[in-house]
Amino acid sequence: MHFSSILSALGLVSLALAGPVQVAERQTQKLRIMPLGDSITEITCWRAFVWDQLAQAGLADRVQYVGSQNSNPQGCRPNTPNWDQRHEGHSGWLAIDIANNYLANWLRSTPADIVMFMLGTNDVFRGRSTNDIINAYTRMVQIMRAANPRMKIIVDLVIPLSFNNGPITQLNARIPEWARSLNTTESPIVIADCYTGFNAGSDLRDGVHPSLSGDRLIASRVGPLLLNYVRQALEERGQ
Ligand SMILES: *[C@@H]1O[C@H](CO)[C@@H](O)[C@H](O)[C@H]1NC(C)=O
Repeated sequence: MHFSSILSALGLVSLALAGPVQVAERQTQKLRIMPLGDSITEITCWRAFVWDQLAQAGLADRVQYVGSQNSNPQGCRPNTPNWDQRHEGHSGWLAIDIANNYLANWLRSTPADIVMFMLGTNDVFRGRSTNDIINAYTRMVQIMRAANPRMKIIVDLVIPLSFNNGPITQLNARIPEWARSLNTTESPIVIADCYTGFNAGSDLRDGVHPSLSGDRLIASRVGPLLLNYVRQALEERGQ
């Protein structure tokens, strides 16, 4: 047996030869941001408005949105026409089902450095308990960290409903303590408050989904936290 075939049997040739290239790729690779959620992520414009903030900060060419979906169902027209329309928003889906059956595969298909999520509204519609939803959040964080130990996580306080809002307020009330209890330096969790000041009349278009002003409010709460994370992550890479 040749030395090289022994090496290649051990998988060492590709490692030895590709090492520097891989390092270079890692450094130039864009930061991957997954917008994760239900219809409030899929058929809305806040993703587009957050992209405008990335562009305005000069970060648009350093980042990409990732996910199995690539769509702009609302026909959003932010200032940045070539905004990245990829996402992992799934209309009608429950946090519980995403945690139990989908998220692990999604993160395998499109790995991420940052996940920002709002979920729970459909669980509330189906009468799932706050405890069950919080347990699903915990499972999701475990899956995110198994996929990437350095995952940076933004969890949104869920926007209000114009009816049956009690369970949303109960969920939101649990999120701060939940997030603190799972927070680590390696994989931080920060909370985007998309609830306070969100008007369940004018900021919703149909009692459930944000109107344009609601989208702008969500973007104003999520965007600055995302920009912080992006700058931190680039710094950690030495860029
Ligand atoms: C998590 O820790 C970071 C500092 O590492 C802090 O900025 C952030 O507010 C903490 N998150 C929560 C929910 O307490």
